[in-house]
Amino acid sequence: MSLAQHLSQIVGAAFAQTGLEAALGRVVVSQRPDLCQFQCNGALAAAKKAKASPRELAETIAAILRDDPVLAKVEIAGPGFLNLTLDDAFLARFADNMARDERLGIAPRAAKRVIIDFGGPNIAKPMHVGHLRSTVIGESLRRILHHAGDAVISDVHIGDWGTPMGMLICELARQQPGLPYFDKNFSGVYPPRSPVGLGDLERLYPLAAAACKADEARMEEARQATRELQAGRPGYRALWRHFSDVSLSAMRAEFDQLGAHFDLWEGEASVNDRIAPLVRSLREKGIAEMSDGALVIPVQKDGDTHDIPPLILLKGDGAVTYATTDLATIADRVERHDPDHILYVVDQRQALHFEQVFRAARKAGIDGGCAFEHIGFGTVNGPDGRPFKTREGGVMRLGDFIAMARKVAERRLSDARLAQEASDEKRRETARMIALGAVKFADLSSPRTSDYIFDPDRFVSFEGKTGPYLQYAAVRVKSLLRRAREAGVEAGGIMAPGHEAERTLMLELGALPDAFWSAYGARAPDRLCTFAYGLAQAFSKFYTECPILPEKDKTIRASRLGLARLTLAQLEQVLALLGIDVPDAM
Ligand code: ARG
Repeated sequence: MSLAQHLSQIVGAAFAQTGLEAALGRVVVSQRPDLCQFQCNGALAAAKKAKASPRELAETIAAILRDDPVLAKVEIAGPGFLNLTLDDAFLARFADNMARDERLGIAPRAAKRVIIDFGGPNIAKPMHVGHLRSTVIGESLRRILHHAGDAVISDVHIGDWGTPMGMLICELARQQPGLPYFDKNFSGVYPPRSPVGLGDLERLYPLAAAACKADEARMEEARQATRELQAGRPGYRALWRHFSDVSLSAMRAEFDQLGAHFDLWEGEASVNDRIAPLVRSLREKGIAEMSDGALVIPVQKDGDTHDIPPLILLKGDGAVTYATTDLATIADRVERHDPDHILYVVDQRQALHFEQVFRAARKAGIDGGCAFEHIGFGTVNGPDGRPFKTREGGVMRLGDFIAMARKVAERRLSDARLAQEASDEKRRETARMIALGAVKFADLSSPRTSDYIFDPDRFVSFEGKTGPYLQYAAVRVKSLLRRAREAGVEAGGIMAPGHEAERTLMLELGALPDAFWSAYGARAPDRLCTFAYGLAQAFSKFYTECPILPEKDKTIRASRLGLARLTLAQLEQVLALLGIDVPDAM
């Protein structure tokens, strides 16, 4: 529980004692810390309902609250706001209890079965910054939901069944026509070794895509190959396996680097065998119907304010679409995992696609009563405010993106004279952690639906609301605790604050559960970023104003060390929920 939640119970009880709804007693952190620490505006709403004077009502509640030793000050402001300030001894006790709690006041209380679909890379196409956002946000949400108590299954949902597959097949057929995969009459065993490596795939795909774009005949050839692949042509399937294996090992390495974990490595192709029976049953039930030669599911509803086009189940040529595989994937997930929620962490620009898929799933009755959430996000832009591109105008690859941040991190470390005593290897590892911390924090700290501008110089800064600032703050506390250990100084029980900076820090620490549950509820890691930044700032002020190791009074010294230790525990917890590692030293 947080301080505000604890107070809400106390104030709620006072409301109930007056014959009012306890829920009206909700307490929040004060917007005016110069006047009070917490506030409750419930008397106004209560008065409206009871047709009473809000000021008088507030007086009655305040009189009850003034008897509570937890509160040092209860004042009424304006028309009937309750301004609350805690008793210092209670505040210290609260922090002390939190420090003793392994879960830092966040007791697991969710118990849903949740599938998170994120990452979503495509075979043969290098991962780009859009996949980076999906991965960073998705992994953070996976950790947040798990910490809340949900049973979470993550699925990478690889893009491996669309026209790009046909394009690749045709391009390779042009370049190496002698391969047995293209021979319809081949009856032997296909070679176990892939005819292409990752480099080949990444070279072949842009060539194929350009050729198909320029020439409709080539495009038709690619579509035909895709249809045959989906229908099960053995040579194409064997080739596809190779494409998939080669891509997958590269993807695994990139996700490892990012610290993302997937329980399932399924893709669009995984549900191929479900598609024919699904289509048949939707046709029989009259849910799918023919329109302009394609088989579609109309999803427009009365009261829609904009046009929602039908979902295309089978194209005119019989090929399946991105929507078909997503629909079949829902049926598969519901049957195999019976989820309460499925979260899709995908670019905001796919909102219409998901609206169609979710509606179609309900209409088809394959949703199993599960709640669908499209967790959309904005675009990563370049300094010109347009989607980030390489200097040559291509899509920026994930690896290059991180390499860019790493270069800046190495420079910044040496500018700040940090990690200079470490071995080269250690320093490189620290630079890597900082670069990733910078990129992830930048990605997570703005509300996820907004676009942001990728600016490594700003992200990789040890000052301001950045990942490296928080990593450095945690490292500073670690080194303080190390020095204390060396000096034989031990942390002790947290005492009533004797200093304003100490009090402010305790209040910040007492708000962690609020930040956590708000991030959980809104699927919004940025709330944890804001919390961590506020905490680091409060700690920095405390550290400057309240001596710790030089403090003569042993109990004060032990208490302050205890606060430092709790601060570190919270910073590490929050950074871990964001997927950000903290170096041991810098
Ligand atoms: N492969 C897709 C893309 O790159 C993302 C997949 C998202 N997940 C899903 N179930 N549609 O845009």
